[in-house]
Amino acid sequence: MAAAARATPSDSPHTPVLLGPLLEAAAPVEGRWLDGTLGAGGYTRGLLDAGADEVIGIDRDPAVIEMAGGWAEAYGDRLQLVQGTFSDLDRHAGGPLDGVVLDLGVSSMQIDQPERGFSFMADGPLDMRMSQEGLTAADIVNEATEAELADILFHYGEERASRRIAKAIVKARAEAPITRTRQLATLIEGCLPRQKPGQSHPATRSFQALRIAVNDEFGELVSGLEAAERALKPGGTLAVVSFHSLEDRVVKRFLQSRSGGGGRGSRHAPEIERHTPRFHVMGKSVEAGEAELARNPRARSARLRMARRTDAPAGPVDRSELGLPKPVQVGRN
Ligand SMILES: C[S@@+](CC[C@H](N)C(=O)[O-])C[C@H]1O[C@@H](n2cnc3c(N)ncnc32)[C@H](O)[C@@H]1O
Repeated sequence: MAAAARATPSDSPHTPVLLGPLLEAAAPVEGRWLDGTLGAGGYTRGLLDAGADEVIGIDRDPAVIEMAGGWAEAYGDRLQLVQGTFSDLDRHAGGPLDGVVLDLGVSSMQIDQPERGFSFMADGPLDMRMSQEGLTAADIVNEATEAELADILFHYGEERASRRIAKAIVKARAEAPITRTRQLATLIEGCLPRQKPGQSHPATRSFQALRIAVNDEFGELVSGLEAAERALKPGGTLAVVSFHSLEDRVVKRFLQSRSGGGGRGSRHAPEIERHTPRFHVMGKSVEAGEAELARNPRARSARLRMARRTDAPAGPVDRSELGLPKPVQVGRN
């Protein structure tokens, strides 16, 4: 395996975001929990230390599972590690759960390793695969059509210059394949006005969009929320931390529609079923306070939403209600 597997948590530690408010709202933490985004284990350890009897820790990144070996032993059979995706979390759970946590996106460890190709700041291969398998960002950048590229940048990154950037990519790759993160970042910088102080780097939105496409992040999110509804016991807690508005909108709409408010419910479900609450939303969404922001600037865009499962059986979800961005299928030319 590539350099990713050699990293240790001390190379680039990941500071858990909004863990305090999560544990406080979920108290008393007990029973069987599932952490669908293990990362450096901040949430998993937090849950075990707060009183969870057992945690199933899932991550799709094989390097994460390998790294967890270093600290997981201390928890004995209270912790099970699984390499897999949270879209299948009910299957990995193997029984009803008292809580599910999803801390979405990538970890600092992944971003800080240029070899993984997530960062436009350091040069590395244009990869971005959390699972280290499937299509890379370079495959998409070099093989998607101009229209597909523009759609990815626009729908997954809200990049207003999507067409201009897609055109520049297609022109550049006709000369030579785009294989490195800095190569792509420089090309994007050339398509946009110079960054002003306080503005994000011009490549931020495009890199987010490609990462979402490579890892099918919206498909994973919706399937993960549906799987959590199936796996949670009545009274069980769902906690989701998102890092950008597109992601948060989906979580918010899911919880609205599954708590009997807002949405119409599945058009295919009988009338009574449509309005049966499967969750009760637990208070307002939570953002990091000043003290956490001072300690961890990455918490700036994080938002925590929590809900408690009711005793109504899980039912079909109408995905058209969730404000999902338009899916972009990338076909190889
Ligand atoms: C923000 S980090 C989680 C950090 C963790 N809460 C901690 O405190 O250390 C997100 C992690 O989730 C993993 N991940 C993202 N999407 C996933 C998915 N669909 N299934 C499983 N793991 C996923 C990433 O590989 C990454 O390690």
